[in-house]
Amino acid sequence: MTTIEVLNGNPDGSSLVFEAEEGKRLVLAIEDAGIDILHRCGGRARCTTCRCDIVDGDADAMREVERERLAREDELAPSVRLSCQIITENDLKLKVIYRLSESDLSDAGPRPNDEMEP
Ligand code: FES
Repeated sequence: MTTIEVLNGNPDGSSLVFEAEEGKRLVLAIEDAGIDILHRCGGRARCTTCRCDIVDGDADAMREVERERLAREDELAPSVRLSCQIITENDLKLKVIYRLSESDLSDAGPRPNDEMEP
């Protein structure tokens, strides 16, 4: 198991710490912990709404698909990653950038598959 701390994980903005199975997609670990993270493309590295700012910990190397998609966004910090493209292997501390409750959307998007896509 890995320990994930989402610094803004609770509705009041406070930190939420939870355990996640190693090998689980980070976006699913966050959602299954009760955090309303957006994932509008269903975890296919297209929408970037599942962005997280990795504050501490090793989120592993970026695959090319994630690197290319993030390169199309303006001036993102190097610590910003797509949580649908990260497999949890290590303890992480992060901030979720887009949440359903802070948007005017009606849903977070289709649930990403358990397996990494694309
Ligand atoms: S890029 Fe769309 S859910 Fe990750």
